[in-house]
Amino acid sequence: MAEITSAVPAIRRIGLATGGGDAPGLNAVIRAATLAALRRGWEVVGLQDCFEGLFDPQGTRMLDGAAVRGITHIGGTILGTQSGGDPFLQRVVDAGGVERTVDRIGDAVAGFRTLRLDALIVIGGDGTMRLTHRLAEHGVPVVGVPKTIDNDLEGTVVAFGFDTAVSVATEAIDRLHSTADAHRRVMVVEVMGRYAGWIALHAGVGGTADVILLPEIPFHWERVFEKVRERERSGKRFSIVVVAEGALPVDGERVVQATATAGRVEKLGGIGELVTGRIAEATGKEARCVVLGHLQRGGQPTALDRLLSLRFGAAAVRTVEAGLFDVMVALDPPDVVTVPLAQVMGRMKRVPLDSDTVCTARDLGICLGD
Ligand code: F6P
Repeated sequence: MAEITSAVPAIRRIGLATGGGDAPGLNAVIRAATLAALRRGWEVVGLQDCFEGLFDPQGTRMLDGAAVRGITHIGGTILGTQSGGDPFLQRVVDAGGVERTVDRIGDAVAGFRTLRLDALIVIGGDGTMRLTHRLAEHGVPVVGVPKTIDNDLEGTVVAFGFDTAVSVATEAIDRLHSTADAHRRVMVVEVMGRYAGWIALHAGVGGTADVILLPEIPFHWERVFEKVRERERSGKRFSIVVVAEGALPVDGERVVQATATAGRVEKLGGIGELVTGRIAEATGKEARCVVLGHLQRGGQPTALDRLLSLRFGAAAVRTVEAGLFDVMVALDPPDVVTVPLAQVMGRMKRVPLDSDTVCTARDLGICLGD
C-alpha cells in the first residue's frame, strides 16, 4: 500500500503511544518525539496504555518539557503499555449469554478525532505495527517506531531494546561461568526472543557459550550431550548452554507456558528446564537452569539503544512534518529511513542460517545442536 502523503500538512497536535512488551529505550523515544514536536510549536498528547487512550479521553495526558525531563535512561514507559492481545477486538457477552467479538476500530478512530489529533506516533513491535496499520487503513495519519528486544521486526536492521537485552544476557552468562567452573556444573541459560534466536545467538557468542540452541535450528539431543561429554573428556569440567525460549528439538514440540487463544498470543518458556534435566540424566553431570525472563527488558537502555531511541523519536516527528504516513521509521545504517507499514507487518525476521554470526559460532567450535 502506498504511503499517505499530503504536501503541506497542518500539524498542531500529535498523539504518542507505546504498545507491546516494554523495552529499554521507550522513554527516550517519548522524550525525543516530544521535544522535537514542541520545538515545532505542536502540542503533544500522551495516550495511556497505548490504544486504550483512544477509547478513554481520561487516559491521556499533555506532555511538555517537564513531563519528559530526565527519562532518557529510565526503563519502562511513562505512558504505560498493553501487550498480548488485540485492543480493537472486544469480547462481549449478550443478554442470552452468547459471547461475540466486537470490532472497536471505529471507536478508536472517533477517539482520535475527539482528541483533536492531527497525527499519531506509535512505538511498538510487530503486533503494534499491525494495529497501527489498521488505523491508517481507516484514515488515521500514523507513523510507527520499531521496538523489540527480540530483533524479529522486519524493515529495520535493528530496533531499540535488542542491544540492552543482549548486554544483560551476556553479563548473566559471564557471571554464570564462575559458578559453572567452581562447581564443575552445566549451567543452562534460557533467554527470550520468541520464535527468533537473535538474543541467544548474540549473547551466546559474546559470552562464549559452549552450546547455543536457536528456534531456527531444531536440535538433536545427542549432539548437545556429546558436546558436554567432549568437554569433560578434555578436562573442561563445566559447560554453558544458552537456549532461546523458542528453541525445540528435531523430534519434539516447542515448550509453551500457555497456548494461543483468540486474542492472546502463545506464551513461550520452559525449554531451559527441559534441557537441564535431559543433560543431567544423559551425562551424569550436575546441571542448573537460570531463566533470565523479564530482566532482559528492564532497567537502563545501553548507550546504543538510547541513541537509537532518540534518533527514532526525532525522525518520527520529521516524518509527520513531511506528511508521510502509514510508515515506520527504520535503521538503514548510517541513516534512519522510512518503510511502509504494509511491508513490515505479518513478517518475522529470523536468524539467517548462513549469517556471519552463525558461521562465527561454528568456527569457534560452539555446538548449535545440529
Ligand atoms: O516480545 C518481547 C518478549 O519479551 C518476548 O521475548 C517474550 O516471549 C514475551 O515478550 C514475553 O511476554 P510477556 O511479558 O507478556 O510475558
